[in-house]
Amino acid sequence: MKTTKLVVLVMTIAMALFILMPSLSWADDGATLYKAKCAMCHGADAAGKPAAKIPSLISDEAKKMSDADLSKAVAETAKHPGPVKSLSADDVKAVVTYVRSLQK
Ligand code: HEC
Repeated sequence: MKTTKLVVLVMTIAMALFILMPSLSWADDGATLYKAKCAMCHGADAAGKPAAKIPSLISDEAKKMSDADLSKAVAETAKHPGPVKSLSADDVKAVVTYVRSLQK
C-alpha cells in the first residue's frame, strides 16, 4: 500500500517536471532577453530614445534592415555594452525575432 503511494508521488513529480520543463526553457526567449538586455536603452516598445541618440528599432529604416543586419548590429554596434555583444547566436536570433514582432 505504502509503495503504491510512493509510486504515485514519483509519477506525479515526473509529470509536473515534464510539463514545467518547456516553460523553463522559455525563460531565455526573445521577449525576456529583450526586456533584460535591450529595453533599458531602446525602450520596452523599441521606439528608442531620440534625445539620447538611441535609435528606434521599429522605424521604417529598422524594418528595412535584414535579420542579418539586425543581428550584426547587436554584436557590433560600438555603443553596445559587453553583455549585449556577447549574446549567443541563438539568443541574438530570439531577440531579433522578438524585435520583428514589435515592428508589426
Ligand atoms: C547601453 C544602451 C543599449 C543597450 C543595452 C542596447 N542598445 Fe542597441 N543601440 C544603442 C545605441 C546608442 C545604438 C546606436 C549606436 C550607433 O549609432 O553607433 C544602438 C544601435 C542598435 C541597432 C542598430 C540600429 C540601426 O538603426 O542601425 C540595433 C539593431 C540594436 N541597437 C539592437 C539592440 C538589441 C537587440 C539590444 C539587446 C540585445 C540592444 N540594442 C541593447 C544602445 C543600446
